[in-house]
Amino acid sequence: MNVVCIGSGYVGSVTGTAFAVLGHPTTVIDLDQNKVDQINAGASPIYELGLDELIRKTIGKTLFATTSYKAVREADVVFIGVGTPSREDGTVDLSYIKSAARSIGEYLSPDRFTVVVDKSTVPVGTADLVTSIIEEASGQTAEEDFTVISNPEFLREGYALEDVFFPDRVVIGTSHPRARKVMRELYHNLLERVNYEELSKDFTFAYNWNSPKATYFETDVKSAEMIKYASNAFLAVKISYINEVARLCEALGANVLDVAKGMGMDSRIGEKFLQVSSGWSGSCFPKDTAEFLETSRKYGSELSVVKAAVQSNEKMHHFVVEKMQRHLKTLNGKTVGILGLTFKPNTDDARKTQASTIIRQLIDLGANVRVHDPKGMEMFRELNPKLPVGYCDRVEDVARRADGVVLLTHWKEYLQADWKRIQGEMRYPYLLDTRNFLPHKMLVEMGYIYEGLGIGKELIKENVAPLMI
Ligand code: UDX
Repeated sequence: MNVVCIGSGYVGSVTGTAFAVLGHPTTVIDLDQNKVDQINAGASPIYELGLDELIRKTIGKTLFATTSYKAVREADVVFIGVGTPSREDGTVDLSYIKSAARSIGEYLSPDRFTVVVDKSTVPVGTADLVTSIIEEASGQTAEEDFTVISNPEFLREGYALEDVFFPDRVVIGTSHPRARKVMRELYHNLLERVNYEELSKDFTFAYNWNSPKATYFETDVKSAEMIKYASNAFLAVKISYINEVARLCEALGANVLDVAKGMGMDSRIGEKFLQVSSGWSGSCFPKDTAEFLETSRKYGSELSVVKAAVQSNEKMHHFVVEKMQRHLKTLNGKTVGILGLTFKPNTDDARKTQASTIIRQLIDLGANVRVHDPKGMEMFRELNPKLPVGYCDRVEDVARRADGVVLLTHWKEYLQADWKRIQGEMRYPYLLDTRNFLPHKMLVEMGYIYEGLGIGKELIKENVAPLMI
């Protein structure tokens, strides 16, 4: 199978590399020469654990990168993996998708049947739009010479390779028999774990090679497009829900860690995505919930549960600031250290994170803020050039003369930090751990005034580990 991936961002580079690893000759196309050069030099254009290694192993063999759309002529399957940024009103800007569709149309071969796949998260109905653009640009007939289908990605940043090689499900949205056949063949190696034993020897990255096989689910195109939005919105609702339960646990003196564990034992609920936080954020959940809500309004059937989850999430950011303020009496003139700027660990993605909202609120209340993140400082600084915060390369510098430190992202680096030394730097040893991640008991014994989220003070336990996410 000849595969083409348009876009070398998150979706395109992970998808393209995965198919190259699985043995399909794959060309990644991006108009940005720098990114293409990077891939050809054997380096990943994005920060994602393990991706560098896979690109290095496949480049020039089964993986190719170029700025030219010529490879579309020879392709059996063309994935569209370009960006879909949000507009001011929350709806998705499809201009990159449209221009990719036009270019595909210009290069589509009249001599072979091509399956064009929407891989990026796109509103329901986008396949129809892409079809009409390709028809116009190519002069070819949809469903005879080519077809456009949906195969949404379910990749988590920081775990994308695990998700791409060991997905829970692969969703294929098309009713076209030939496209279904092509996609089954394309995914055969992944679904049947062909060569996985060899790969397991080859990878330095640790995977659970015995994880259950993926479910392959075929449906119509609109339902597949909908599955992506409905799934992400549901996960956002789940987190907002546990965060609200955490606030109630705190008020009543219960322990949300045990509550989440007990809830998760019910297979109808499941243990994942019940980890308390200062709120969800990142490049997907805020964008996808906003678009899903806008669409529901447009069709006169507002998703009130999703609307409530979004509002509850904003409250959660604020709750963290309030909690700190309650403890320190006032934030005016106080120094606060922030640990974690990315929306979760193992990514350098600092776009629209809970950290920027929380930091802004702290500054508005008169606090001086110092920040640290193992990978996200550069992007955060670029995106928030006017934010008056001190950037610290070392964890302990964040704590210098601080009246409180807040952990927002559960990077493993923070587990390994020298907490004795950090305490020595602080003016007042108040530590707010919004992920219930750090070893409470040890920190309390060291003299910290430790607070988590959703845990009554008397219930602080020795071994607290976050649930699986
Ligand atoms: C998400 C989806 O998980 C993925 O399937 C989709 O394709 C893209 O969007 P991602 O944005 O990478 O992936 O992050 P995810 O791991 O889902 O976390 C999103 C946010 O929720 C983060 O801020 C994370 O810290 C938070 N979160 C997650 C919680 O607060 N608690 C949890 O239990 C899980």
